[in-house]
Amino acid sequence: MPPKPYLDRRRAAAAARWELRDEVVVIGAGDLLGKPGRGDQKYPFHVHPEYFYLADRLRPGSVLAFDPAEGWTDFVPEVTEDERVWEGAVPADPGPGEAPHAELDGWLSARSGRPLAVLGAPPAGVEADEELTERLRGLLSMVRRPKDDEELARMRAAVRATEAGYAALRPLIRPGVTERALQVELEAAFFRAGADATAYGTIVGSGPNAAVLHFEPGARALRAGELLLIDAGAEVGGYVADVSRTYPVDGRFTPEQQALYDVVLAAEEASIARCRAGTEVRDLHLAAAVDLTRGLVELGLLRGDPESLVEQEAHSLFFPHGIGHLVGLGVRDAAGGVPGRKPSEHPALKKLRTDLPLEPGMAITIEPGIYFIPALLDDPARRERHRDQVDWDRVERLRDFGGIRIEDDVLVTAGDPEILTAGIPKR
Ligand code: GLY
Ligand code: MN
Repeated sequence: MPPKPYLDRRRAAAAARWELRDEVVVIGAGDLLGKPGRGDQKYPFHVHPEYFYLADRLRPGSVLAFDPAEGWTDFVPEVTEDERVWEGAVPADPGPGEAPHAELDGWLSARSGRPLAVLGAPPAGVEADEELTERLRGLLSMVRRPKDDEELARMRAAVRATEAGYAALRPLIRPGVTERALQVELEAAFFRAGADATAYGTIVGSGPNAAVLHFEPGARALRAGELLLIDAGAEVGGYVADVSRTYPVDGRFTPEQQALYDVVLAAEEASIARCRAGTEVRDLHLAAAVDLTRGLVELGLLRGDPESLVEQEAHSLFFPHGIGHLVGLGVRDAAGGVPGRKPSEHPALKKLRTDLPLEPGMAITIEPGIYFIPALLDDPARRERHRDQVDWDRVERLRDFGGIRIEDDVLVTAGDPEILTAGIPKR
């Protein structure tokens, strides 16, 4: 028996989906990685989510094993003297369902010849049946996608810390303050409000930097008249929030900024309203692309019928990413599709990494954006392809505009969607 009831439930759900007879499974937590050329220094440990979901343990090198005839065993490395000296690690007797890591080899050799799936981070020297591994991974993703009460409690705690960060940040935004200063204050407020970590590299992009999708903040000072794009979230107990907001640096949007902001906000609100059980993520993405494109046509930046502009991928000049991704156990949670389903051939869906129908309990980010990205707008092939569809002179004048992204985390329910991050103002 695992020590926590929610692990018992998750493991039972995975075993029920897998329907194994002779096959066995190991799921690796992953190992600490040394920094090249830096002696005993290690990168921060990021546990593999497939292991963490089923074991809720952060110990590097652990391997969870499953034999349908005998159940689950978590092979956990013993604490070394060095770890006790340098890290203060405390050795514990193996708990229920735990065994010393040294016993893993014996467990595997007692089952040699049986098909073996290797999930998580593959432990060294273990040879997987690739086809079985991919099949079980797809089925485990389906189990992981609807969040359970324990997961939701941690996500709500991450949201509370994220809200505290945005609340602390807002009054600090003004000309002259640096991106770095805002990052530091935002992250400090996350930690003061209970965060264990940031969910991903905090994005603070001012002016043209707001058009860099994963911008890393630096020493640049904000200037009056510019936009500021923040994309940041806190992590608690392995679970995260992922939120973006775009603000005018001096407190007021210019009319052009306001018009584009309103297009993105309307697309975001319409997309959130579509997050109902049964909705396909591919349809969410297409509908958002059409909404944004319609807005750009109304503002005169694009010319033509919005649906056919999306068919011809004109929207991707300004909206080059997906409408969202599953979120929870990490900032990209259980991506992918439905096992056995073919990817869409629609040109606007070729790059979609999450392609599935929404179910109650799933949490998804909704994050439309409009950006002016020189790397795309200056590309001769795109300029030629969309020659008559874009007001290129106007685009040229908006070269330094940056971008606007508005992102919330949405919980799909049996009824109306719940906006988990609704406490972070957008107006
Ligand atoms: N928050 C960053 C991203 O979703 O890509
Ligand atoms: Mn996101």
